[in-house]
Amino acid sequence: MAARLMEGEVPANPLIVTIVAGLGFAFLLGLIATKLRLPPIVGYLLAGILVGPHTPGLVADGELAGELAEIGVILLMFGVGLHFSIADLLAVRRVAITGAVGQILLATLVGIVVGFLGGWDLGAGLVLGLSLSVASTVVLLRALDQRNALATVDGRIAVGWLIVEDLVMVLTLVLLPAVAGWLGGEGKVLSLGDLAGDLGLTLLKVVAFVTFVLLAGSRAVPWLLRQVARSGSRELFTLAVLGVALGIAFAAAELVGVSFALGAFLAGIVLSKSELSHRAAAEALPLQNAFAVLFFVSIGMLFNPGVLLSEPWGLVAVLAVILVAKPAIAALIVLLLGYPLRSALTVGVSLAQIGEFSFILASLGVSLQLFPAEGRDLVLAAALISITLNPLLFALVEPVAKWLTKPGRPLAKREGRARRRMGRLRKKIRASHHEATRQVSLAQLRDPAELGRLFPMLADLSDERRDELLSLFLPRSAQPGERLFRLGDRADSLYFIVEGAVEVELPKGRGVQLGAGEVFGEMALLSGRRRSADVVALDYCQFFTLTSENFEAFAQLHPALRERLQAVASKRADSNKTG
Ligand code: CMP
Repeated sequence: MAARLMEGEVPANPLIVTIVAGLGFAFLLGLIATKLRLPPIVGYLLAGILVGPHTPGLVADGELAGELAEIGVILLMFGVGLHFSIADLLAVRRVAITGAVGQILLATLVGIVVGFLGGWDLGAGLVLGLSLSVASTVVLLRALDQRNALATVDGRIAVGWLIVEDLVMVLTLVLLPAVAGWLGGEGKVLSLGDLAGDLGLTLLKVVAFVTFVLLAGSRAVPWLLRQVARSGSRELFTLAVLGVALGIAFAAAELVGVSFALGAFLAGIVLSKSELSHRAAAEALPLQNAFAVLFFVSIGMLFNPGVLLSEPWGLVAVLAVILVAKPAIAALIVLLLGYPLRSALTVGVSLAQIGEFSFILASLGVSLQLFPAEGRDLVLAAALISITLNPLLFALVEPVAKWLTKPGRPLAKREGRARRRMGRLRKKIRASHHEATRQVSLAQLRDPAELGRLFPMLADLSDERRDELLSLFLPRSAQPGERLFRLGDRADSLYFIVEGAVEVELPKGRGVQLGAGEVFGEMALLSGRRRSADVVALDYCQFFTLTSENFEAFAQLHPALRERLQAVASKRADSNKTG
């Protein structure tokens, strides 16, 4: 088999060969890169070059690798959507829209000038400029994720920026074939009216799709997942998560022509309101990592090292646009909008690379005869190099920001104002999240108002009693699907749900869901009988538990708690009798 592959024959199992070779080599070279203190991405890209058609030896299937990489993009963007909300997007809309549109226009202009200097005409320069002006989703998301920066304000600005870039790309892909005739490429010369019609129709389709998915999806999808979670099958839950992410992404691409990434982002947002979103994120993660690695392998496979020798100056010029002009333009726009230097540099560096969109545009340009084939090779080489250098640029952000804002430097004064502005934005984003997730930690429960808000039956405790109770509480967490106890078990503890949701599985197949702020396990504890039902965690849960001894001790001091629990227990017992 190995000998056959060496001779360059098509392997019998192209999909398996691509996955095995892609992941295997990526693992080996990624490990070596890490040992050499290089970013693992360098290893993944080299793995791609090794199994690609431009180097001797094993040749994996580039098209298949590209498609597998798309699955990585979908799962990655789905994960981002799960932790995002429409409110987040709106909070950063000004900087994201102004920034992305301004940056694309300016970077495209620089690209056209570079094209002119290299002797290309307007059409080729335009395709080059546009290809260089859009960043790669995968590279940006991974870079932010590895620095735990996705949930920060800088991270949200960068993701908002990316979404706007993505939308501009959708319009560009529709417009480019329509204007190719004008620019001297292949195709009819369309009238302005036709052009406006095409554009209007595309925009309408995008708006209709997004509205439909957000309105219908945010009800139907969380409902569906809850039903599947109730079934108790982990496998079905994983399938439901993958089905929703891939299904909505595919529908977005097929029906509206937007990218898989944007569709997957929507799928994530639709699910983010569900109490099962943490669990969905956890299910998608392992696949997401494996497929995202294939993205880098697939780029390495496309790379033709020959271009380094045939077009060295072209490559230098293109890299200068990506690594210097583009981040400088982006950072300047963010600074001009009044944000701190660190945010400006983070956003600038996030965009100092190109990836999947650039290849798509360059390839479209070649097929429309607007763009020379060597231009596409240049774009690919520049993508590979800029992705490799990206982690190094990120490492520079912190020292450069510190150096430039040292007291006494011109930027230092403006920094104070910018930080206050940032603080306001952070508050806005946090407020929207607080409502959405209701996450409460033990430290927060020390605040009497917070404790009373979450558990009204504890609202009237004196400070002393509250501290006593908190010292008796034992924290406990549970994984989705974990059974906390079974019908007929002896009762040992009382549970207060701080985060997540559980299902009480009553006899006769009836189920009741309880969420944050509710209590369970009180019936058996108070009556001294056995547990009256099974209780299963539906989500990642956090509880505070009181052992029966501690409950007794505390109830001696504060009899109101026993009475209130008794009232809850009687109500539940009544409903169980009638139900
Ligand atoms: P216990 O009998 O200790 O164990 C099962 C628990 O399920 C029970 O206490 C209650 O806390 C809870 N439970 C039983 N019936 C209901 C119901 N109808 N609604 C909500 N919770 C219930």
